[in-house]
Order: sequence, then structure tokens, then C-alpha cells
Amino acid sequence: MLDGDGYFDERVAARYDESAAEMFDPAVVDPVIDFLVEIAGSGRALELGIGTGRIALSLAQRGVPVHGIELSKAMVARLRAKPGGEDIAVTIGDFATTTVDGTFTVAYVVFNTIMNLTTQAAQIACFRNVAAHLEPGGCFVIEVGIPDLQRLPPGETIRPFHVSETRWGFDEYDVAIQGLASHHFEMVDGRVERLSIPFRYVWPSELDLMAQLSGMRLRERWSGWKREPFTSDSRKHVSVWEKPAV
Ligand SMILES: C[S@@+](CC[C@H](N)C(=O)[O-])C[C@H]1O[C@@H](n2cnc3c(N)ncnc32)[C@H](O)[C@@H]1O
Repeated sequence: MLDGDGYFDERVAARYDESAAEMFDPAVVDPVIDFLVEIAGSGRALELGIGTGRIALSLAQRGVPVHGIELSKAMVARLRAKPGGEDIAVTIGDFATTTVDGTFTVAYVVFNTIMNLTTQAAQIACFRNVAAHLEPGGCFVIEVGIPDLQRLPPGETIRPFHVSETRWGFDEYDVAIQGLASHHFEMVDGRVERLSIPFRYVWPSELDLMAQLSGMRLRERWSGWKREPFTSDSRKHVSVWEKPAV
């Protein structure tokens, strides 16, 4: 049963940093920060789905003021408990529709979180909401996986995305609705815990169209934060759309 915190409730928040430990590795985080610092310039950053502050805390330490939007109070409580976490402004709400004061030179949503919006309408609303918060010339940055459909055998709906001694993950596709349910199973204190989260997968070209509908245009697209080329073999993309300068 979902409470007001959505899928990242107290139980998930308590283990988030540990479960996603590899994403907290400086080798993963530092290139994200370098990229965002450059795009933010001397302006402010808006993070959609700020979570426990994996990116926001380091970005703030590098001198970029960050404002977060986040559904889960449980995740924000973890952010607050970290050094510097009390200094980051967070608005509790749905990042597709929640508004905050001021304007930003960059807004970003990383780690596949755009897919947490499970309808096309919500994803478009998110682009429009971001565009309304950006200064002219400001940018929207998304990091999201490429749908794994090329690896899905005909007639199959399930793809494993993680298999180890203590964790197993399977993505379940429903191509009729661009639906993707990620099923996580993890051994915790000798018991297997299960968490299933619904997503809507979305193609780069569809995101470009959403940007266009919101008055933005594609500025750059890479397969990683170090500006690795984006090709037909890329498993994810980092894309930047720009709101035209007046
Ligand atoms: C995968 S976590 C990413 C957290 C953080 N950005 C990071 O990179 O570690 C996704 C976060 O987005 C939040 N979230 C998901 N859907 C949301 C929505 N519609 N509005 C606001 N927050 C949302 C979740 O509660 C969770 O904290």
C-alpha cells in the first residue's frame, strides 16, 4: 500500500544509500557534479527527486545553490541527517507539477527518475514545469536508460538487470503502454525483501518532442557524464535541452 511518500517510503529510504552504494562512489558522482557545475554557471540548480542528496550535497559543496523537489519525506529526512543537508532547500511535492520560488540556470533529474512519472501526460507536465522554472538560456538535464527492448527476446516480457549473491532485479515490460515494472528482491537479515516500482520508459526522441512542446530544444546528448559519444549501442543517455535565451 502506497503512503504519501510514494515508493520511497520509510522502509526504502532507510536502506537507499546502502542498496545504491555503487551510485555513491565518487567515480560515479564526480563526473555528474563536474557536468552540472559547468552548466549551472553562476546560477541556481533545481533537482527533481532529490532523494537523500546523492548529487545535491556535492553540487552545493561546489558552490551551486540547490533547491530540491521530492515526494518522500522519508528520503528528505536522510538528506537532512547528512552534513550540509539542513542547508538545502526542499519542497515536498510531485516534481511534475510542484512550483518553487525563483528561477534556475539548470534543472536536472538523474538516475532514471524521469521514468517514475508513469504516464506520457505527467512526463510532458514535468518538461513544462521545468521550462517555467528556467531562466532564458537555462538547461534541463536528464540521465535515463535506453529501453532494453533490443535485448528482450520476441514474446518475452522479463529482463534481469541485476543478479548477485544477495540481490536480484528483473524488469517486466508492457510494450503496449511503455510500461516497465522493476522488481527488486534483496536478502536483508536472512530474509528476502521485495519491492516493485512502476515506471514509464521513454525514448530519447520522445523526450526531444516533450522538450519542443515546452519551448526547449536539444543542446547536447551523450552516453555518459564525461561526454562519451551517444551511439546505437549506448545503454543510457545524458541529454541537455535549452530554453532559448530571449
Ligand atoms: C532513484 S531515486 C533518486 C534520488 C536521487 N536523485 C539520486 O540520484 O540518488 C528517485 C527519487 O525521486 C523521488 N520521486 C519519484 N517520483 C517523484 C515525483 N513524481 N515527484 C517527486 N519526487 C519523486 C523518489 O521519492 C526518490 O527519492
